[in-house]
Amino acid sequence: MEFSFESDLKEIKCGVLFVCLTKEALKKEKKGLLEEFIEIAEKTDDFKADKSQSALIVLPKGFKAKKLSLVGLGEEKELEKEDLRKTVGVLVKVAKAKKIEEIGIAFKSNFKEKDWIEVCSETPILADYSFSKYKSKPKKKEEEETKIQKVFFGTKKSSELEKIVKEKEIIAVNVNLVRELVNENAKDKNPFLLAKKAKEICKKAKIKCTIIEEKQLKKLKAELILAVGQGAVEKPRIVVLEYFGANKKEKPVLLVGKGITFDSGGINLKPTGYIETMKEDMAGAATVLGIIKTAKELNLKKNIIALMGLAENAIGSNSYKPGDIFKGFNGKTVQVGNTDAEGRLVLADTLAFGVTKFKPKLVIDYATLTGLAAHITGGYSSCFLSNKDELFKEMFEAGNTVFERVWQLPLYKEFSEDIKGEISDLINSSKNKYGSVSSAAAFLKEFVGETDWIHLDIAPSAFNHEKESEYCAKGGTGFGVRLTIEYLKK
Ligand code: BES
Ligand code: MN
Ligand code: ZN
Repeated sequence: MEFSFESDLKEIKCGVLFVCLTKEALKKEKKGLLEEFIEIAEKTDDFKADKSQSALIVLPKGFKAKKLSLVGLGEEKELEKEDLRKTVGVLVKVAKAKKIEEIGIAFKSNFKEKDWIEVCSETPILADYSFSKYKSKPKKKEEEETKIQKVFFGTKKSSELEKIVKEKEIIAVNVNLVRELVNENAKDKNPFLLAKKAKEICKKAKIKCTIIEEKQLKKLKAELILAVGQGAVEKPRIVVLEYFGANKKEKPVLLVGKGITFDSGGINLKPTGYIETMKEDMAGAATVLGIIKTAKELNLKKNIIALMGLAENAIGSNSYKPGDIFKGFNGKTVQVGNTDAEGRLVLADTLAFGVTKFKPKLVIDYATLTGLAAHITGGYSSCFLSNKDELFKEMFEAGNTVFERVWQLPLYKEFSEDIKGEISDLINSSKNKYGSVSSAAAFLKEFVGETDWIHLDIAPSAFNHEKESEYCAKGGTGFGVRLTIEYLKK
């Protein structure tokens, strides 16, 4: 997608020029370039710039754009930045449906220019994304999906704005990369193939990438991740990604992602209705890859290590069994109560390995860990849990800024009691049938030692199951990339 600036609206050569205005701005614009069109819109469509109201006008000769679309934003006092994103998402879809490849966008509101330019550089890329890898190409050209090729911003170019465009473009492209990985067939991203893919991506991006294979995992005595993957043909792997953007002596931030390439539930097989989208269970691993790649491309002045804990939770004679006890990398033993609580086992070894090897100042893990998380937040936010409550505020604010929201849940010490074993140190499914988001986190806590740690249960946000949203198709959402970049920048 190409972006360019043009402050003279008459000069923007595109299929539709979208001018989005608040009610207040509408009044001001009545005396200006748009005067006659506003009059037409008022007469023919009763256009008042109400929220979601729009009017389409064929432009006269003096304009290089074919059509003008006035888009209402409602009243300024109610307008939030997310409304701008949603608006842009919708207008991108409108353009695509009309087979228009080049669009112009201008905002007339109380929002600062840099805010709407930010929105208009990330949202079109996000809204244009669709998962088409396994769809055959239509025979007729006109049946092909229209991709937005060019976006004009109706304002004057400046180096500050250009910098924003570049940055948001990098972020959005990487969000789409994460979405694509999550959407792919499980068979095309088993632990071997996903590690290979990560390696290829990192080679291009010039990020150091090492793969810890089964043999080495055995040497490391990482029995927990090995147990989860032992029933699958492709055995577990930990992919280690390293980016040093600051002084090498500075302690890194460690990002750990759950990478279950398919979660069948194992011997505790998932029932119909729950199993169908379990290719999504590697979203955490895809997210940390997306984050470190973005950080590298943005030249963030941070040291970051990202670990992808990869395994397939398969069912078969070789699968790990309920009742069996395994010893993790950090020496703790775990009895398997439920083979479907596999994510915490993979993360346990990956976290313990990462903390020991890289001595990070902060660990953040990303995991589609529990079904309950979505029931709690309604799918509107992810769950945040930490061994240091003070860490919440900044993550919360970063989440609100980019509208990838997080909400904190408790990590009471009672939850740690609930996961104590009788004939082992720990059990992987809590004795308490309630509070599984917290008990899963309490389990992970056993493997990070004293290091500051944030656990993000992204199960509510990683995948659009029911329906698409304004700027995110059904399937993988890429949640976590925009949130974490915003968080790390602060
Ligand atoms: N991957 C699932 C959680 C999940 C569910 C993610 C739905 C996305 C959508 C996880 O491995 C799991 O099965 N969790 C169990 C844990 C239980 C057996 C203790 C759950 O939450 O039901
Ligand atoms: Mn599971
Ligand atoms: Zn899982």
